[in-house]
Amino acid sequence: EKQVPHPQENLCPPRVLLFPLPEQGHVNRMLKLAEVLALAGLHVTFLTTPFIHNRLTRHNDIETRFASYPGFLLKTISDGLPEDHPRSGERKMELFISLNTVTKRLLKHMLATHQLGSNLSPSVSCIIADGTLAGFTTDIATELQIPILHFHGFCACAFWACSSIPNLIVTGELPVRDMDKLVTGVSGMESFLRFRDLPSFCRASDTKDPILQGIARETRHISRGQGLILHTFEELEGPILSHIRTKYPNIYSIAPIHTHLKLKLKLKHANKEVSSQPFNSLFEIDRTCMTWLDAQPLNSVIYVSFGSTTVMTNDQLMEFWYGLVKSKQRFLWAIRHDMVHIQGEGDDGKNNIPAELTEGTKERGYMVGWAPQEEVLEHPSVCGFLTHSGMNSILESIMAGVPMICWPYHADQQVISRCVSVMWKIGLDMKDVCERNIVEKMVNDLMVERREEFQKAVDDYRRLAIKSVSEGGSSYSNLDRLIQDIHKMND
Ligand code: UDX
Repeated sequence: EKQVPHPQENLCPPRVLLFPLPEQGHVNRMLKLAEVLALAGLHVTFLTTPFIHNRLTRHNDIETRFASYPGFLLKTISDGLPEDHPRSGERKMELFISLNTVTKRLLKHMLATHQLGSNLSPSVSCIIADGTLAGFTTDIATELQIPILHFHGFCACAFWACSSIPNLIVTGELPVRDMDKLVTGVSGMESFLRFRDLPSFCRASDTKDPILQGIARETRHISRGQGLILHTFEELEGPILSHIRTKYPNIYSIAPIHTHLKLKLKLKHANKEVSSQPFNSLFEIDRTCMTWLDAQPLNSVIYVSFGSTTVMTNDQLMEFWYGLVKSKQRFLWAIRHDMVHIQGEGDDGKNNIPAELTEGTKERGYMVGWAPQEEVLEHPSVCGFLTHSGMNSILESIMAGVPMICWPYHADQQVISRCVSVMWKIGLDMKDVCERNIVEKMVNDLMVERREEFQKAVDDYRRLAIKSVSEGGSSYSNLDRLIQDIHKMND
């Protein structure tokens, strides 16, 4: 079966289909790329599941946001799961299985029957699929003869570590025996990568573990596509990108995508600052924290957020809370309603919160369910970030010039937090530890004791990132090349 060309083909801009993994971090960067491509005049179809689409439309005026782009389509495809399925935590594997079977079938049919185009540009001339869904999307693209690129949200170091999993298994370095030993089988990272810093999937006790095997497989499938878009920039990870190019020759390193979008929107609106209406949030944003931040002294607040998927126990929550209160620093904490995993009946932590915590929080802290993170990080009162080290968060923090403490939860975050502390030296790594005294010490190290050192390092990377997205810079040129290559695919 081949996607039959439509008679009007070549008369209008190419249509590109973007298909993220249905999760906040992935939707976030993919939707920003979608708008950047639309601003460049391409016709875009953004495809996601009803589960995500409904949350996007509930919390953002997404239809209005994209109405001004000719040919922009928001489409949905079923993930094959019942509406009330959690699609996260221990049941996330069921989402992957269903995407690889039900969604695969539907996607092939929708592409072959032009259901993802418009009257003007009916067929898709390029697919940009999430790197974590490389297997089935590449199967379909190959069968229908549509060029495919993959967008991977991991930093280069984390992606390279995932590519090295088969090698680590063959040489016997996996399963892990000593967490603190250096890994030898990830080239270019031998001097600093410990087993503790490998992507979380590598902690499986059996190398036949389905998640470990799945990650290795999806990463391998990426080489069957026409190119790989990575959410990093040359000046941040140049040496590792060179290693990756030996296996994946066509790399577009285009980060930070949120900065490209800001700059391009500013250009479109004749240099006026564009208001930052939310358009990609899956949670209800609580903006009251901005008023609270306005009332705090300059450079006095640490922002705390563990992203969209981190889950912690009530005990861990309390350790963080104690640490923050004991540090005597001001803090703004975004605590998702589903972030704390309650252990046992009645242990919801609400009835027995010690007075010193509530008092300390009233004095110096503020909590919301979900914050406007990019704006928060750019607020002049904020000078530190306690983060789970998702790559979006790290890039947003670099661009805001805010040093960070990393408490990685899963996936690529273990690698990223190591890079933050020993490679980029823009913060501290609190990996695998959750104790109030350590939290307290690290917050004070970041905000007081070692503040200048971290501030200087993050400012240096910020400058490099700005250069990279400016005309002639590496991310700017890679993005430009990506757009040109999509045009060529339509020829
Ligand atoms: C992360 C990784 O990106 C992904 O590659 C990995 O596989 C799973 O974990 P996530 O937890 O969503 O995903 O973190 P991150 O990449 O940092 O993205 C979170 C996004 O949500 C950021 O863009 C951040 O600005 C936004 N956010 C977070 C808010 O807008 N408000 C909040 O309160 C918290």
